[in-house]
Amino acid sequence: MANEQHILEKSPRSLDQALRPGEWKEYVGQEAIKENLQILLHAAKGRKHQPEHVLLYGPPGLGKTTLASLIAKEIGANLRATSGPAIERVGDLASILTNLSPGDVLFIDEIHRLNRTIEEILYPAMESGVLDIVIGKGPAARTVQLELPPFTLIAATTRISMLSAPLRSRFSGGTFRLQYYNHEEIAEILRRSSKILGIEVDSDSLMEISRRSRATPRTANYLLKRARDFAEVSNTPLDVKTVKKALALLEIDEIGLNQTDRDILTVIVEKFQGGPVGLKTIAAALSEEEAAIEEVHEPYLMQIGLIDRTPRGRMVTNKGYEHIGVSRPIDEQKSLL
Ligand SMILES: Nc1ncnc2c1ncn2[C@@H]1O[C@H](COP(=O)(O)OP(=O)(O)OP(=O)(O)O)[C@@H](O)[C@H]1O
Ligand SMILES: [Mg+2]
Repeated sequence: MANEQHILEKSPRSLDQALRPGEWKEYVGQEAIKENLQILLHAAKGRKHQPEHVLLYGPPGLGKTTLASLIAKEIGANLRATSGPAIERVGDLASILTNLSPGDVLFIDEIHRLNRTIEEILYPAMESGVLDIVIGKGPAARTVQLELPPFTLIAATTRISMLSAPLRSRFSGGTFRLQYYNHEEIAEILRRSSKILGIEVDSDSLMEISRRSRATPRTANYLLKRARDFAEVSNTPLDVKTVKKALALLEIDEIGLNQTDRDILTVIVEKFQGGPVGLKTIAAALSEEEAAIEEVHEPYLMQIGLIDRTPRGRMVTNKGYEHIGVSRPIDEQKSLL
């Protein structure tokens, strides 16, 4: 197919770009967020005002960046994208802000990685549209105020708990938590992706991929591509059997857990009697990054009820024990009642 050929010749990055919804109607699910945003944007349009600042949060790959680009498109604005780690000094942010054009959407990804000094520059910029710059040092220092063009800040984070209260309170347009997707929604996303990529695949196979996608569109698209590769290389049609084989090779089990997810469950059960145990301790026992466990693995394990988060730490649930095929000691079951 000519179209497919065209896409395949692009780099993997632009392949991801090709799969990213460019219209609201292609953005599946997150109905409540979409509705709230549409109201915010239409009201602003009606009043000929700049839409207020919006904070999006939730686990990686659920569609935060995509939403930011849809918002910019909706109001016909340029999207200027940067990220917390890319803004190292106060001057970096000052230069981004002063270079905005009126009406721009500024997208700051991973905003939890902004340091506090830089964060403080953002407060007056978000609230009053001004930039306070300190010129000089010591007793001679003085503050100059620059008027900024009207802009909308859209910030995204996977770790809302790391944002300071003053920063959070300045997202006057709203703070929205993206939800995990259900199987049907993921299957719908996959159906669209397979069309764009020119992949022939039946709906049972899409559902199989969906069930193992951690309820996450990015993972779903990734698995679809891997399953397609597997089918091509092994010269088999892309059916349920092939999907199962391809995903088994990637060590993804029937509910979508990968090796690290399973290791987390196993380590809590085997080394810490099922918990409660602190995140740091789990990370150390597995030689994994604490951040990865907290941002990626734990939210999904909690979502599907395999672990619980208690004030004393993480615990594996009965369902979690069942999944790794270990029976919970009887006396512990009693103490949970
Ligand atoms: N609601 C959706 N409908 C269809 N496709 C989606 C949706 N959300 C995300 N996707 C797909 O998943 C990919 C990942 O989404 P996106 O980059 O927006 O996630 P993210 O939340 O910004 O992730 P991260 O936290 O890692 O930056 C997109 O390129 C897109 O193809
Ligand atoms: Mg993103």
